[in-house]
Amino acid sequence: MEAESHHQREEEALFPALEKHDITEPTAIMKEDHSEFRKRKQRLFQISQADQTMEFTDFKVEVLELGKYITRELESHIFKEDNILYQIALQVLSTEEWDEVKRACDQVGYCCFTPEDQEAAEHQH
Ligand SMILES: [Fe+2]
Ligand SMILES: [Fe+2]
Repeated sequence: MEAESHHQREEEALFPALEKHDITEPTAIMKEDHSEFRKRKQRLFQISQADQTMEFTDFKVEVLELGKYITRELESHIFKEDNILYQIALQVLSTEEWDEVKRACDQVGYCCFTPEDQEAAEHQH
C-alpha cells in the first residue's frame, strides 16, 4: 500500500514529461496497469482487515486470486518500465527536464525506496 507513491510519482512527474515529447502510448498503457493494481491492492487490503466477515474459504480464494494477479502482472509491469519506458525517458529527457521530474517527485514523496539525497534532506528537518 505504501508503494502507491511510486505509481503516483510516475504518473505525476515522469509521464507528463514524456507526454510533452508526444510519447503518450506507453504512458497510457502504464497508467492502465497502475489502475488495475490499485483496484486489486485496495481490495486485498480491505479483505485483510481483521473486522471483515467473509467466509474463510471465500477469503482464501480471493486472496490467492488477487495475490497471483498482483505478483504476475507487477513483474511484467516492472519489466516493461525498465526495458521500454525508462529507456525512452533516458533518451529523450534533457537534464533540465530531469531536474523538473526530480522536483515533482520530491513533492509527491517516497516510500520504501527513498533516494539517498532525499533521506539526507529529511534528516536535516
Ligand atoms: Fe509503474
Ligand atoms: Fe515503476
